[in-house]
Amino acid sequence: MNDPLVILGIAGSLRKESFNRSLLRAAVELAPEGARIETFELDGLPLFNQDEEQNPHPKVAELKQRARSADAILFVTPEYNYSIPGVLKNAIDCASRPYGDSAWNGKPVAIMGATIGTLGTSRAQYHLRQTFVFLNMYPVNQPEVMVSNAQDRFDQEGRLTDETTKKLIQQLLAELVNWTKRLQQSAH
Ligand SMILES: Cc1cc2nc3c(=O)[nH]c(=O)nc-3n(C[C@H](O)[C@H](O)[C@H](O)COP(=O)(O)O)c2cc1C
Repeated sequence: MNDPLVILGIAGSLRKESFNRSLLRAAVELAPEGARIETFELDGLPLFNQDEEQNPHPKVAELKQRARSADAILFVTPEYNYSIPGVLKNAIDCASRPYGDSAWNGKPVAIMGATIGTLGTSRAQYHLRQTFVFLNMYPVNQPEVMVSNAQDRFDQEGRLTDETTKKLIQQLLAELVNWTKRLQQSAH
């Protein structure tokens, strides 16, 4: 039997009761057969400083190693001020350097996000897609998983209760797995 595909899941919020962290936990449980989602927590990641890029902090080195060894990436992003939260952009920047040694290069990637607002992190997600151009990441286009009114879709313990959202996550993960296999086959 083939080894399961490893998807590295990163949520762009440090908040203990973060809906996006909860959404990532739901994805871990909904991973399709033949794939496993591992998570990387952004707590403790230092702010990017180009003076340090040749001598990365251990947490940055760990992020780069985990991203590199993963078959695919799953970003789960809140929207802050109509864009990508600083903690997630910082993590992306950290693992993209030094120039020519980006851990994201050529990785298949999927995005989802949750907000207490109504537009489901769409503006943050489209900004994230823009970064994939320079990062040379290969995003899954559809389905777009944009979870609005998140406070109504999780229980008190942060478990996802909304069946529609669960189905969308399953579809997104299935697409990510298919997409990753296609890219891996075409690389051989
Ligand atoms: C600094 C800040 C900026 C925010 N900006 C937006 C925004 O532009 N659009 C939006 O839908 N929600 C915005 N929100 C509300 C977030 O959707 C909400 O706080 C959400 O719960 C954050 O994700 P988390 O639960 O994973 O921490 C903002 C929240 C913060 C703290």
